[in-house]
Amino acid sequence: MKILIKNGKLVTAAEEIYADILINSGKIAQISPKINIKAERVIDATGLLVLPGGIDPHVHLQLPTPAGPSSDNFETGSRAALMGGTTTIIDFVTPTRGQSIIEALNQRKAEATSALTDYSFHISPVEWNNYVPKAIAQCIDMGFPSFKIYMAYKNTVGIDDKALYYIMHTVAQNGGTVTAHCELGDDIEVLRDFYASQGMASPKYHMLTRPPRFESIAVKRAIDLADQTECPLYIVHVSTADSMKHIIQAQRSGQPVFAETCPQYLLLDESLYDQSLEKAIKYVISPPLRTETHRMALWNAIASGSIQAIGTDHCPFTLRQKMNGADDFRKIPNGAGGVEHRLALLYTYGVLAGIINLSKLVDIFATQPAKIFGLYPQKGDLQVGSDADIVVWDPNVTSIISAKSHHSNADISIYEGIKVTGMVRHLFKSGYFAIENGKMSTNLPKGNLLTRRTARTTNQYYKRMDNPEADNCGRV
Ligand code: URP
Ligand code: ZN
Ligand code: ZN
Repeated sequence: MKILIKNGKLVTAAEEIYADILINSGKIAQISPKINIKAERVIDATGLLVLPGGIDPHVHLQLPTPAGPSSDNFETGSRAALMGGTTTIIDFVTPTRGQSIIEALNQRKAEATSALTDYSFHISPVEWNNYVPKAIAQCIDMGFPSFKIYMAYKNTVGIDDKALYYIMHTVAQNGGTVTAHCELGDDIEVLRDFYASQGMASPKYHMLTRPPRFESIAVKRAIDLADQTECPLYIVHVSTADSMKHIIQAQRSGQPVFAETCPQYLLLDESLYDQSLEKAIKYVISPPLRTETHRMALWNAIASGSIQAIGTDHCPFTLRQKMNGADDFRKIPNGAGGVEHRLALLYTYGVLAGIINLSKLVDIFATQPAKIFGLYPQKGDLQVGSDADIVVWDPNVTSIISAKSHHSNADISIYEGIKVTGMVRHLFKSGYFAIENGKMSTNLPKGNLLTRRTARTTNQYYKRMDNPEADNCGRV
């Protein structure tokens, strides 16, 4: 089926151009100033922006926790993603300790078949043992070359520095990338138990037991271990100015270190914990919200290119689930939703606020996540031959975010009441007309499981990883 999008402004990470774009058999078939061809559907995009579909590199759908799984499954979470212009998500395979990584991967594949976006997985080794090296090599061979480790959550999934060293070494030897949740897990456990033992149990103590330096010291440590093992490193949900200082220093020295932050760390601050229990509890996320100074440092790092990607860390819970920890912040499931709002928030508070331009928006929303995680140019760009994952963005509409109208399965939103400009007017997923005039098709085909290539880093950022045989996004 041929679909022609006419008269729109196409935005890529490289440029903004007025052009028509032809979709044929699920792919972008032609881009040109004027296309005069007979198509089954013709969309007039006058006054609208045409963008590549977003890639959210950090979501947790039906994540198991003691308070029950995070409240979006692959169907509801991916539906919310599409409504916000995201056509690909990368979730996680998290085995329990003692479980085979490959078995956990197969289980996760089965859970994810209801997804409506395309999807892939980072693999989370939660321990080091004799089976892990082979499993890492197998995962990379199977097209899952990124490995998420947790330095926090020591009681469940967190690992120590020795395991981290061995995992980084093995991942590096096999051409993969480590992604890291950087917080000092042991120090957090000490503070949590200390505060709780003093009867300080409200949500604010979640924030006070995870101070900024616990993140920045862990970031520095992860960077150092990655340097020793020559392992490409992607640091998830960076939230502090000092973390960024360490990251920028490593990047300047040519070390392959990428940084991600999330809209919550750009837009919300720690004063939100100074509210009634029911209001404050929804902001229990890790890392916690920070101050204005940190938020500004993150925006600056996006504008200057030190932060490459924006993920959402979408991990929603219902108020009932959150209230599991009403009398003890240690029992509140960590996480909040946001997969639906990434584009609108970045467009409103990044582009319209004059901090970033449209090409930078596309870069952090789609192109860099695709490049870093081995999906480019199939995803993340408007190029002839790329998958026709296309957002037609209407910049003329404003709305207020609310749990009453969002598509996630959570009855609360950390963005409740925030005004945004712009909406997904139309969306094509693999050439399929998934959202037409703001309404989702009732008959959407399922998304595809994406296998990925190793994403070696580019000489543009990382001289030390320069490889003359790499293609233009560093892959060999
Ligand atoms: O609070 C959060 N971020 N929950 C999800 C798990 C993680 O740490 O990324
Ligand atoms: Zn995390
Ligand atoms: Zn996360």
